[in-house]
Amino acid sequence: MSTKIALVTGANKGIGLETVRQLAAQGVHVLLAARNAAAGQAAADQLRGEGLPVDFLPLDVSDSASIRAAAAAVDTAHGRLDILINNAGIFIDDHALPPSAQSLETWRRTFDTNVFGLIETTQAFLPLLRKSEAGRIVNLTSILGSITLHSDPTSFVYDTKTPAYNVSKAAVNAWTVQLAYELRGTPIKVNAAHPGWVKTDMGGADAHLEIADGAKTSVALALLPADGPSGTYTHLGQTLPW
Ligand SMILES: NC(=O)c1ccc[n+]([C@@H]2O[C@H](COP(=O)([O-])OP(=O)(O)OC[C@H]3O[C@@H](n4cnc5c(N)ncnc54)[C@H](OP(=O)(O)O)[C@@H]3O)[C@@H](O)[C@H]2O)c1
Repeated sequence: MSTKIALVTGANKGIGLETVRQLAAQGVHVLLAARNAAAGQAAADQLRGEGLPVDFLPLDVSDSASIRAAAAAVDTAHGRLDILINNAGIFIDDHALPPSAQSLETWRRTFDTNVFGLIETTQAFLPLLRKSEAGRIVNLTSILGSITLHSDPTSFVYDTKTPAYNVSKAAVNAWTVQLAYELRGTPIKVNAAHPGWVKTDMGGADAHLEIADGAKTSVALALLPADGPSGTYTHLGQTLPW
């Protein structure tokens, strides 16, 4: 089979950038997608300088025209896509407010990127993933999207009530299950990845995992074999409660 083509959104820094690096190190041709052209191009140039097969692709997942242009560019250049990693995400500053007080603006902005952007990007690239022999879709979620754990007073996430973000990731989980059902008769697998609590701009300095470990769940799900699972919610191979 020819070289696999992967696309990682929000890949100019953090877990996305490291996911690009790890996939490219395994011989995958990776499209490093970012909304900030200067940052995305600089990140891709750095990885290419390390000898890795990486190209920059402009993509703002909250902008329909940008999504359409990116899908058209990948179609023209490659005619298919083997791996889509929906990594882009935001965590807005007023996250400590309770659900009764968090502004609708925060809810809308959070859902525009974390949920609707992910869905629109997936829909735009699905025709190219259907042209792959073994399409893989990885949706970056969080353990904070677990409704089961948020309902359990003994859970370690019980008190981490950052409402708009948590609910957006619960929606990502639910979308993952819906899409996996639609694609169950195809070679395409769709899975939700919790990267762990990772030392990035979003995760902060107190996080438990280094970025290299934070990318491992996404990379493993991107490279699942034909008999691998679909419609799962995992962290480093461990199944999480929805
Ligand atoms: N870090 C953690 O502990 C943790 C835990 C659980 C889940 N996650 C999830 O893992 C994913 C990556 O997080 P991270 O920690 O690496 O965060 P990060 O360092 O803040 O990076 C987020 C990336 O998403 C990009 N992004 C945001 N909005 C975008 C848009 N509209 N279009 C395209 N790109 C956009 C950002 O681009 P800009 O640089 O242009 O802003 C940046 O490249 C997120 O989905 C996050 O929710 C992270």
